[in-house]
Amino acid sequence: MRSKDQRSGGTGRQRVIVVSGGTDGMGRALALARARLGDTVIVLGSNAVKGERLLDDAVRLGARGGVEFVRVDLADISGTRSAVRRISERHDVVDALALFANRQNPGRTLTADGLERTFSVYYLSRYLLSHGLSPLLRRSATPVVVNVAGVGTRAGRLHWDDLQLESGYSTVAAQLQAGRANDLLGVSFAAQPDNPVRYVLYHPGFTRSGDLTPFRAPVRLALRTLSALAARSVDRSVAPVHGFIETPPEAPLTAVDRGRPLPLDLETLDPSDAARLDRATRELLRSVAPEEDAEEA
Ligand SMILES: NC(=O)c1ccc[n+]([C@@H]2O[C@H](COP(=O)([O-])OP(=O)(O)OC[C@H]3O[C@@H](n4cnc5c(N)ncnc54)[C@H](OP(=O)(O)O)[C@@H]3O)[C@@H](O)[C@H]2O)c1
Repeated sequence: MRSKDQRSGGTGRQRVIVVSGGTDGMGRALALARARLGDTVIVLGSNAVKGERLLDDAVRLGARGGVEFVRVDLADISGTRSAVRRISERHDVVDALALFANRQNPGRTLTADGLERTFSVYYLSRYLLSHGLSPLLRRSATPVVVNVAGVGTRAGRLHWDDLQLESGYSTVAAQLQAGRANDLLGVSFAAQPDNPVRYVLYHPGFTRSGDLTPFRAPVRLALRTLSALAARSVDRSVAPVHGFIETPPEAPLTAVDRGRPLPLDLETLDPSDAARLDRATRELLRSVAPEEDAEEA
């Protein structure tokens, strides 16, 4: 537990940072960089081997801060809630929550909760972590959530009558829907009254990261070639996230596509859609995992 005087703002202070999807790609780069700067980093990921490798690399790189690996399948509502409980038992404050976890699903698969997997990992886990860790974030002097997704993208939509994409599933439709849902999560989270926690929606642009193992070999080869030619480096894409953590924006909600601030009146950030999704998400949680619903309210 951190004492109160360790919590206050100022440059160079040690922070407690939760990174979902911190075992690979951009999340891993952020986690290692923050640990080297002296922060305590709690990394969530499902792959134990990647988690061990991260812990080894933190030591090898001489990280001054601590790194904790929490193995969790973020497709699973009870697993995500357990991770929130575990963090809450070990820490009294979280300064920043950085949300990176995502995985492409070439076919429609269901989670143990009976939900479409992309919706669960890419959107619902971020909803549960944002709201579940909110009490700890509120105790920080400079609390911020950075949701790394695709803000600014107008493609895709919420399938209001079929959020689990029972008809017309495609990898792209699922990714775009969950991305738009994350945009709306930021809007509804930031609209909460008396909320000191800043929410940043950040689009990193095409980046040399991303787990391609779910794809067939020809698709993997094509994506790797394209990435080598056109994608940004991981460090470049992660750089702005450090800034959001060190100096959270003053506004409750900020949207940035690469380096470009976005206006908040985009149709993809519509407040009534955000309220509608928030209601639908609460109802969904009540119906598939009712016993702990109060935690996210
Ligand atoms: N790469 C790009 O070009 C690009 C462009 C625009 C937006 N983005 C967005 O940026 C974010 C990060 O992308 P990235 O390229 O860094 O991704 P990545 O390299 O594929 O890493 C994804 C992370 O998510 C974790 N994860 C996936 N499924 C999980 C599950 N069920 N439970 C727990 N953890 C899980 C993985 O950990 P485990 O393997 O340990 O489970 C891994 O740490 C994503 O939201 C992505 O949509 C990326």
